[in-house]
Amino acid sequence: MCGIVGYLGTHDADDVLLGGLRRLEYRGYDSAGLVTVHNGGFDLRRAVGRVERLKALCDEQPVRGSLGIAHTRWATHGRPSVENAHPHVDAAGKVILVHNGVIENHAAIRDFLKKQGVTFRSETDTEVLAQLVGFFYSQTGDLLESVRRGLLEVRGTFGIAVVSPDAPHTLIAARRGSPLLVGQADGAYFIASDAAAIAGQAVRVTYLNDDEIVRLGPDGMTAGTIDDVPVEKRFEELELAIEDVELDHTGFEHHMLKEIYEQPDALTNTLRGRLREGSDKITLGGLSQIARELPRTERLLLMGCGTAWHAGLIGEYLFEELAGIPCEVEYASELRYRNPIVLKNTLAVAVSQSGETADTLAALREVQTRGARVLGVVNTVGSTIARETDAGVYLHVGPEIGVASTKAFTAQVAVLAMMALDLGRRRHLSPERTIAMAEELMAIPDKIRTALELDDEVKALAEKLVDRDNWLYLGRGVNFPAALEGALKLKEISYIHAEGLPAAEMKHGPIALIDEGMPVVVIAPQDHTYEKVLSNIEEVKSRRGRVIAVVSEGDTEVARIADECLYVPKTEPLLSPLVTSVPLQLLAYHCAVLRGLDVDKPRNLAKSVTVE
Ligand code: F6R
Repeated sequence: MCGIVGYLGTHDADDVLLGGLRRLEYRGYDSAGLVTVHNGGFDLRRAVGRVERLKALCDEQPVRGSLGIAHTRWATHGRPSVENAHPHVDAAGKVILVHNGVIENHAAIRDFLKKQGVTFRSETDTEVLAQLVGFFYSQTGDLLESVRRGLLEVRGTFGIAVVSPDAPHTLIAARRGSPLLVGQADGAYFIASDAAAIAGQAVRVTYLNDDEIVRLGPDGMTAGTIDDVPVEKRFEELELAIEDVELDHTGFEHHMLKEIYEQPDALTNTLRGRLREGSDKITLGGLSQIARELPRTERLLLMGCGTAWHAGLIGEYLFEELAGIPCEVEYASELRYRNPIVLKNTLAVAVSQSGETADTLAALREVQTRGARVLGVVNTVGSTIARETDAGVYLHVGPEIGVASTKAFTAQVAVLAMMALDLGRRRHLSPERTIAMAEELMAIPDKIRTALELDDEVKALAEKLVDRDNWLYLGRGVNFPAALEGALKLKEISYIHAEGLPAAEMKHGPIALIDEGMPVVVIAPQDHTYEKVLSNIEEVKSRRGRVIAVVSEGDTEVARIADECLYVPKTEPLLSPLVTSVPLQLLAYHCAVLRGLDVDKPRNLAKSVTVE
């Protein structure tokens, strides 16, 4: 979602700000802007589109000052335009602000301010906040106090950074529900919505908690709550190297393709040190704090959104089969608006690549207050979900930049599989089955490597089918969520309509859609559903649908009836989505490229959705 960077130091702020924005751009790319403050004034630059456009503008019209804030936007209120881009300035030109999140009561505040004679220049909720702070500033002349008062009036979520030409050495930041951290290095402070923006610059960081506000200046940092209660903040070393966040995709046309190809190595990292050849011991260090409670688990509740939810659905099969624990998987966005019944000994698991998804965070807080222990399955170290969960297991796949999640998905499934084995082993799962599953998991990276060899074949297939506008994806059992994920990948980057279904559900309605124009991707590895899936393929073929089947190596049955077969290595059936998903990722990728679309930055999307 939107990204924020701020800098207060001794160097030119624009270099730090533009460098940070480039690293955050994958989070929102509708528009970008920055402001620098210098004695007596400020330089504001905003541009619609990518950070490169903003950089070009700053080259044409240079900015001055060693204090500044910047923003890359994913529109929530108001279309992408220069007027709606951040930073926003109040009417008096005294308060300049960037904001992530949503101000829910912006309309009421806007009406109030209009009555006070304020004229608005944009359609955004952010300008409303800037004008509100400006309104208090005109009364108090105190920037920190005005920001605080403004924030006390708003409902919703915010991560903000604020500067004023009246205070050329002061940077203010606050957060509620939208991530924000303060970085420090000799003689400089940084603000960022994501540590990636300031890696290589800041040496130490501290993460703001909800309703905290900080003022940074030459005399140091003061921190408190927006209710004006002082808060003690501790800085910790920033363990994020610049190489980890450099956004190059050398050797690949796009980040997404690079990340698809990274999966064998990424998964090796996910599994490293956690499984051992010939051993039934699963070492998940992140669960050690709650290890004694784990055997008591009577019910599992997995929560996530989008791809993470799909990984959770696969997790459900794994937990029920391997650990014998009843498991439910919930859309985080729905869970929190129900009355979720959290029974005794419920272990909830928040699955999230970014660790910042607002819906997932809200769901985890909801079930935590109802007494559940919550574990995180998160990629981004130090993210809000990682910090707010009771324990957790990191994915360790490195930053995922492509907006369409690929390597994080397979790693989420792998982590859930290890957790299921761990819980299973603590209950009734035999050492033999545990060892067999663990060894099969360790073999997955090589099997993914083999599946990647399908790339040219998948591309040729995409060339034949890319003009089709409606696709179905079918799977059964553990490959039903893999079908959902395949369909999501196709729609989000190629804008082709695709639906994932349990193969048997097709005959209860969707079969009416099938004609010779409809590609139907069927995931049909040789597991206990195989015979049934064969019948489903026959049903599609007899309606002249075009079947593209993902099958196990050596399969001959499906080839007799399907139009195309993509052969992937055989694996333990429960783990098969780790392999069957790979050609589907490639298929989505090639369709998007063939349609001439921006694979890494699909329209309307953003990495990390920090608004509800
Ligand atoms: C799809 C995709 C999204 C995310 C979802 C949750 O490719 O990336 O559906 O999976 O927004 O994001 P995280 O995992 O960061 O919570």
